[in-house]
Amino acid sequence: MKLLVVVGARPNFMKAAPILKAIAEFNACRAEWAEPLMPVLVHTGQHYDAQMSDAFFADLELPRPDVFLGAGSGSHAAQTAEIMRRFEPVLLREQPDALIVVGDVNSTLACALVASKLSSKMRPVIAHIEAGLRSLDRSMPEEINRILTDQISDLLFVTEQSAVRNLRYEGVPGEQVHFVGNTMIDSLRQHESRAEMSHAFQHLALRHGEYALLTLHRAANVDEGDSFVEILEGLSELASSHRVMFPVHPRTEKQIRELGLQSYFRGESGKFNGSRCGIEIIQPQGYLDFLGLMKHARIVVTDSGGIQEETTALGIPCVTVRDNTRHETIRRAIRTQLASTSTRQIPEMWDGRAAARIVGILAEHLRSRHPVVPAMPAESGQIQGNAR
Ligand code: UD1
Repeated sequence: MKLLVVVGARPNFMKAAPILKAIAEFNACRAEWAEPLMPVLVHTGQHYDAQMSDAFFADLELPRPDVFLGAGSGSHAAQTAEIMRRFEPVLLREQPDALIVVGDVNSTLACALVASKLSSKMRPVIAHIEAGLRSLDRSMPEEINRILTDQISDLLFVTEQSAVRNLRYEGVPGEQVHFVGNTMIDSLRQHESRAEMSHAFQHLALRHGEYALLTLHRAANVDEGDSFVEILEGLSELASSHRVMFPVHPRTEKQIRELGLQSYFRGESGKFNGSRCGIEIIQPQGYLDFLGLMKHARIVVTDSGGIQEETTALGIPCVTVRDNTRHETIRRAIRTQLASTSTRQIPEMWDGRAAARIVGILAEHLRSRHPVVPAMPAESGQIQGNAR
């Protein structure tokens, strides 16, 4: 059975890596009569910088992609169309039994859409990992990507109960939905101890629990001067009591220059030396370095849903900013988090075994479509040994 796994942008890599590992484990432990699963890794090239892509392949021990589409940046329409145009011949050539797409980036929707329109004979089973999450804000490109990908996928693997409810509300048949946990948390658990040894922490001369970590990259937050300034003003109080480390996304760095906001930042290499707020700009970090920085931060402020989930798993206070959050609200949320002594509960099934469950369910689904033996032997529960 051939499984085509698509990655494209930074948040895909840590969600897909455990799937490839679980496929290898499945093959090593599979019952004699069960067909092996053959993964084909496709990188669309939506992210292509060494820091945004290559560093993650190294840190997560991802194999080199079998296919690199090199689609690159562009407007949403141009990028999505370019990925689709380059992905179609790959799909026709590889003829996989299943297509696995993860998360909510343009690559996710583009590849699912290509597969969904193949003739029924050619069409692979489309599996969406991290299905059902909703912000209920359709001005977010990711929200459109999630809704549409879920509508054209056959198997929807969800990370939390609210996603099951969202999909039910949208009319997705229950038998397509599988609550399996969070593959991003699988990666976190697999690499947590290695992250302790990362260099970034020492290099930046940070002290455990005495600094804040900031990430901002969403267009709605950084493309409009007013929204960006509102967030920066919301951070000024925190920056007066803590060092605020800001690994900057390439799009955000570009916007800081274009909007003339350099005075809020100080730069590692002296590129920025503003005194207004003193937020410390650093390079985008690799997976292990960022995990290390997150683990020992006093607080994380972010506009990334993924980082919000990772801080939940690590028990680190986190404030998530949205484009319409006023600076007073951000300050208040930061004060509340700094004063809080309660620890958040780790959500159900975020136990580091999500990918194993997914591969077990997928293998069983494919086997039932193309049985290699007339009936499943009694002890065949083994095939799902990794499953729930
Ligand atoms: C994408 C995802 C977003 C995710 C984010 C993580 C979509 C719609 N958005 O947003 O959900 O949270 O990735 O980073 O898919 N750029 C580089 N080098 C790169 C990649 C991008 O310089 O390797 C710059 C380019 O100027 C590019 C801009 O960043 O135009 C935006 O990249 P793009 O992939 O379009 O969206 P992200 O903002 O990264």
